[in-house]
Amino acid sequence: MEFRRLRSVVAITGLTEELYRTRKLEVIAGDENLETIHKEHGCTFKVDLRRAFFSPRLAYERQRVARKVRRHETVINMFAGVGCFSIVIAKAEPTARIFSIDINPYAYEYMCENIILNGTDNVIPLLGDAADLMPLFEGRADRVLMPLPERAAAFLRFAADALKEQGVVHYYTVAFANSSSPLFKRPIEEVNKVLSDREVKIEEKRVVRSVGPRKYHVVLDLLVRS
Ligand SMILES: C[S@@+](CC[C@H](N)C(=O)[O-])C[C@H]1O[C@@H](n2cnc3c(N)ncnc32)[C@H](O)[C@@H]1O
Repeated sequence: MEFRRLRSVVAITGLTEELYRTRKLEVIAGDENLETIHKEHGCTFKVDLRRAFFSPRLAYERQRVARKVRRHETVINMFAGVGCFSIVIAKAEPTARIFSIDINPYAYEYMCENIILNGTDNVIPLLGDAADLMPLFEGRADRVLMPLPERAAAFLRFAADALKEQGVVHYYTVAFANSSSPLFKRPIEEVNKVLSDREVKIEEKRVVRSVGPRKYHVVLDLLVRS
Protein backbone atom coordinates (compact mmCIF):
# COMPACT_ATOMS: atom_id res chain seq x y z
CA MET A 1 0.00 0.00 0.00
CA GLU A 2 1.28 3.49 -0.83
CA PHE A 3 0.48 6.61 1.22
CA ARG A 4 1.43 9.47 -1.09
CA ARG A 5 0.76 12.22 1.43
CA LEU A 6 2.46 10.48 4.35
CA ARG A 7 5.87 12.04 5.08
CA SER A 8 6.82 10.75 8.54
CA VAL A 9 5.84 7.94 10.88
CA VAL A 10 6.07 9.13 14.48
CA ALA A 11 5.86 7.54 17.93
CA ILE A 12 4.74 9.41 21.02
CA THR A 13 7.58 8.68 23.46
CA GLY A 14 6.81 10.77 26.52
CA LEU A 15 4.21 12.54 28.58
CA THR A 16 2.59 15.79 27.46
CA GLU A 17 4.76 18.79 28.36
CA GLU A 18 2.91 20.59 31.12
CA LEU A 19 3.07 24.24 30.03
CA TYR A 20 3.06 24.18 26.22
CA ARG A 21 0.98 20.95 25.96
CA THR A 22 3.34 19.48 23.34
CA ARG A 23 4.05 15.74 22.98
CA LYS A 24 7.50 14.13 22.88
CA LEU A 25 7.66 12.73 19.34
CA GLU A 26 10.21 10.39 17.79
CA VAL A 27 10.38 9.83 14.03
CA ILE A 28 10.39 6.09 13.29
CA ALA A 29 10.52 6.48 9.51
CA GLY A 30 10.69 9.29 6.99
CA ASP A 31 11.27 13.02 7.35
CA GLU A 32 12.65 14.35 10.68
CA ASN A 33 11.02 17.73 10.01
CA LEU A 34 7.56 17.73 11.62
CA GLU A 35 6.41 21.09 10.34
CA THR A 36 3.18 20.48 8.48
CA ILE A 37 0.13 22.20 7.03
CA HIS A 38 -3.37 21.16 8.07
CA LYS A 39 -6.50 22.29 6.20
CA GLU A 40 -9.88 22.44 7.86
CA HIS A 41 -13.17 24.10 6.84
CA GLY A 42 -11.41 26.50 4.46
CA CYS A 43 -8.68 27.42 6.99
CA THR A 44 -4.97 26.60 6.78
CA PHE A 45 -2.86 25.91 9.88
CA LYS A 46 0.91 25.61 9.81
CA VAL A 47 2.45 23.97 12.87
CA ASP A 48 5.53 22.10 14.01
CA LEU A 49 4.09 19.27 16.10
CA ARG A 50 7.21 19.10 18.28
CA ARG A 51 7.00 22.77 19.19
CA ALA A 52 3.34 23.64 19.54
CA PHE A 53 0.06 21.94 20.41
CA PHE A 54 -2.28 20.98 17.59
CA SER A 55 -5.24 18.59 17.40
CA PRO A 56 -7.35 17.91 14.29
CA ARG A 57 -9.87 16.27 16.65
CA LEU A 58 -11.03 19.74 17.74
CA ALA A 59 -12.31 20.65 14.24
CA TYR A 60 -15.99 20.25 15.15
CA GLU A 61 -15.54 22.16 18.43
CA ARG A 62 -13.94 25.09 16.59
CA GLN A 63 -16.91 25.24 14.23
CA ARG A 64 -19.40 24.94 17.09
CA VAL A 65 -17.91 27.90 18.95
CA ALA A 66 -17.49 29.98 15.77
CA ARG A 67 -21.20 29.58 14.96
CA LYS A 68 -22.08 31.25 18.29
CA VAL A 69 -20.08 34.44 17.72
CA ARG A 70 -22.22 37.47 16.82
CA ARG A 71 -21.35 40.59 14.79
CA HIS A 72 -18.81 42.99 16.34
CA GLU A 73 -18.09 40.78 19.34
CA THR A 74 -14.85 41.23 21.27
CA VAL A 75 -13.53 37.73 21.85
CA ILE A 76 -10.52 36.67 23.94
CA ASN A 77 -8.85 33.33 23.36
CA MET A 78 -6.74 32.88 26.51
CA PHE A 79 -4.80 29.83 25.24
CA ALA A 80 -4.70 30.29 21.49
CA GLY A 81 -1.85 27.97 20.43
CA VAL A 82 -1.13 28.40 16.72
CA GLY A 83 -4.44 30.27 16.38
CA CYS A 84 -6.86 27.56 15.22
CA PHE A 85 -10.00 28.54 17.21
CA SER A 86 -9.32 32.22 16.62
CA ILE A 87 -8.85 31.90 12.86
CA VAL A 88 -11.97 29.75 12.40
CA ILE A 89 -13.97 32.38 14.35
CA ALA A 90 -12.36 35.25 12.43
CA LYS A 91 -13.36 33.73 9.08
CA ALA A 92 -16.89 32.92 10.22
CA GLU A 93 -17.44 36.42 11.67
CA PRO A 94 -15.13 39.03 10.07
CA THR A 95 -16.62 41.88 12.17
CA ALA A 96 -15.47 40.21 15.42
CA ARG A 97 -12.07 40.97 16.98
CA ILE A 98 -10.30 38.01 18.54
CA PHE A 99 -7.47 38.79 20.99
CA SER A 100 -5.37 35.61 21.08
CA ILE A 101 -2.90 34.90 23.86
CA ASP A 102 -0.27 32.18 24.10
CA ILE A 103 2.76 31.77 26.34
CA ASN A 104 4.71 29.53 23.92
CA PRO A 105 6.89 31.67 21.60
CA TYR A 106 6.83 28.98 18.87
CA ALA A 107 3.03 28.79 18.97
CA TYR A 108 2.90 32.60 18.84
CA GLU A 109 5.18 32.69 15.76
CA TYR A 110 3.01 30.11 13.98
CA MET A 111 -0.11 32.00 15.00
CA CYS A 112 1.29 35.18 13.37
CA GLU A 113 2.10 33.20 10.21
CA ASN A 114 -1.33 31.53 10.19
CA ILE A 115 -3.07 34.91 10.49
CA ILE A 116 -1.28 35.99 7.31
CA LEU A 117 -1.91 32.66 5.53
CA ASN A 118 -5.63 32.98 6.24
CA GLY A 119 -5.94 36.74 5.75
CA THR A 120 -7.59 37.11 9.17
CA ASP A 121 -6.29 40.46 10.40
CA ASN A 122 -9.16 40.58 12.94
CA VAL A 123 -7.09 38.11 15.02
CA ILE A 124 -4.74 40.05 17.32
CA PRO A 125 -1.88 37.80 18.53
CA LEU A 126 -0.40 38.37 22.00
CA LEU A 127 2.64 36.60 23.44
CA GLY A 128 2.57 36.13 27.22
CA ASP A 129 1.02 34.56 30.28
CA ALA A 130 -2.76 34.85 30.32
CA ALA A 131 -2.54 35.55 34.06
CA ASP A 132 -0.55 38.74 33.30
CA LEU A 133 -2.46 39.87 30.20
CA MET A 134 -6.10 39.20 31.14
CA PRO A 135 -6.34 42.08 33.68
CA LEU A 136 -5.77 44.48 30.72
CA PHE A 137 -9.15 43.39 29.31
CA GLU A 138 -11.23 43.86 32.45
CA GLY A 139 -14.88 44.49 31.51
CA ARG A 140 -14.21 44.52 27.75
CA ALA A 141 -15.06 41.09 26.34
CA ASP A 142 -18.28 39.56 25.04
CA ARG A 143 -16.80 36.08 24.98
CA VAL A 144 -13.76 34.28 26.43
CA LEU A 145 -12.39 30.92 25.26
CA MET A 146 -10.40 28.80 27.74
CA PRO A 147 -9.04 25.83 25.77
CA LEU A 148 -6.63 24.60 28.47
CA PRO A 149 -8.68 21.88 30.21
CA GLU A 150 -6.00 20.84 32.72
CA ARG A 151 -5.78 24.29 34.37
CA ALA A 152 -9.30 25.59 33.82
CA ALA A 153 -10.34 26.42 37.37
CA ALA A 154 -7.13 28.36 38.08
CA PHE A 155 -7.90 30.80 35.24
CA LEU A 156 -11.70 31.04 35.41
CA ARG A 157 -11.68 34.19 37.55
CA PHE A 158 -9.55 36.01 34.93
CA ALA A 159 -12.04 35.02 32.22
CA ALA A 160 -15.08 36.21 34.21
CA ASP A 161 -13.42 39.53 35.13
CA ALA A 162 -12.67 40.23 31.45
CA LEU A 163 -16.38 40.03 30.53
CA LYS A 164 -18.70 43.00 30.09
CA GLU A 165 -21.75 43.06 32.39
CA GLN A 166 -22.89 39.93 30.56
CA GLY A 167 -20.88 37.54 28.43
CA VAL A 168 -20.01 33.96 27.62
CA VAL A 169 -17.11 31.80 28.81
CA HIS A 170 -16.30 28.57 26.96
CA TYR A 171 -14.92 26.62 29.91
CA TYR A 172 -12.92 23.52 28.95
CA THR A 173 -12.09 21.10 31.73
CA VAL A 174 -11.38 17.46 32.53
CA ALA A 175 -14.19 15.17 33.71
CA PHE A 176 -14.13 11.57 34.92
CA ALA A 177 -16.93 9.08 34.34
CA ASN A 178 -17.85 6.83 37.23
CA SER A 179 -21.06 5.17 38.23
CA SER A 180 -21.54 7.14 41.46
CA SER A 181 -21.36 10.65 39.98
CA PRO A 182 -22.69 12.21 36.74
CA LEU A 183 -19.98 13.36 34.31
CA PHE A 184 -20.64 17.10 34.61
CA LYS A 185 -21.21 17.22 38.40
CA ARG A 186 -17.64 18.11 39.43
CA PRO A 187 -17.06 20.68 36.61
CA ILE A 188 -20.33 22.44 37.52
CA GLU A 189 -19.41 22.48 41.22
CA GLU A 190 -15.98 23.89 40.28
CA VAL A 191 -17.59 26.75 38.32
CA ASN A 192 -20.12 27.55 41.04
CA LYS A 193 -17.35 27.69 43.64
CA VAL A 194 -15.09 30.07 41.68
CA LEU A 195 -17.96 32.26 40.45
CA SER A 196 -20.11 32.23 43.57
CA ASP A 197 -20.57 36.03 43.30
CA ARG A 198 -21.91 35.86 39.72
CA GLU A 199 -25.13 34.73 38.10
CA VAL A 200 -24.13 31.76 35.95
CA LYS A 201 -26.34 29.89 33.49
CA ILE A 202 -25.08 26.86 31.57
CA GLU A 203 -26.07 27.47 27.93
CA GLU A 204 -24.67 24.19 26.65
CA LYS A 205 -22.44 21.39 27.87
CA ARG A 206 -20.82 18.61 25.86
CA VAL A 207 -18.07 16.04 25.75
CA VAL A 208 -15.34 17.35 23.42
CA ARG A 209 -13.23 14.19 23.25
CA SER A 210 -12.14 11.15 25.20
CA VAL A 211 -8.55 11.47 26.48
CA GLY A 212 -8.11 8.24 28.48
CA PRO A 213 -10.05 5.46 30.18
CA ARG A 214 -13.17 7.13 31.63
CA LYS A 215 -11.45 10.51 31.21
CA TYR A 216 -12.91 13.25 29.00
CA HIS A 217 -12.33 16.80 27.93
CA VAL A 218 -15.67 18.56 28.33
CA VAL A 219 -16.87 22.08 27.72
CA LEU A 220 -19.41 24.19 29.57
CA ASP A 221 -20.68 27.29 27.74
CA LEU A 222 -21.34 29.66 30.64
CA LEU A 223 -23.54 32.75 30.36
CA VAL A 224 -22.13 34.96 33.14
CA ARG A 225 -23.79 38.10 34.57
CA SER A 226 -22.22 40.33 37.20
C1 LIG B 1 -4.32 22.62 24.82
S1 LIG B 1 -3.39 23.88 24.00
C2 LIG B 1 -4.71 24.62 23.02
C3 LIG B 1 -4.19 25.43 21.86
C4 LIG B 1 -5.24 25.90 20.86
N1 LIG B 1 -6.34 26.60 21.51
C5 LIG B 1 -5.75 24.77 20.00
O1 LIG B 1 -6.87 24.32 20.23
O2 LIG B 1 -5.03 24.35 19.09
C6 LIG B 1 -3.14 25.05 25.31
C7 LIG B 1 -2.25 26.22 24.95
O3 LIG B 1 -2.18 27.07 26.10
C8 LIG B 1 -0.89 27.63 26.18
N2 LIG B 1 -0.71 28.06 27.59
C9 LIG B 1 -0.49 27.29 28.68
N3 LIG B 1 -0.43 28.06 29.79
C10 LIG B 1 -0.62 29.35 29.39
C11 LIG B 1 -0.68 30.59 30.08
N4 LIG B 1 -0.54 30.67 31.40
N5 LIG B 1 -0.92 31.70 29.35
C12 LIG B 1 -1.09 31.64 28.00
N6 LIG B 1 -1.02 30.50 27.30
C13 LIG B 1 -0.80 29.36 27.98
C14 LIG B 1 0.05 26.54 25.70
O4 LIG B 1 1.26 27.06 25.23
C15 LIG B 1 -0.80 25.88 24.59
O5 LIG B 1 -0.50 26.42 23.33
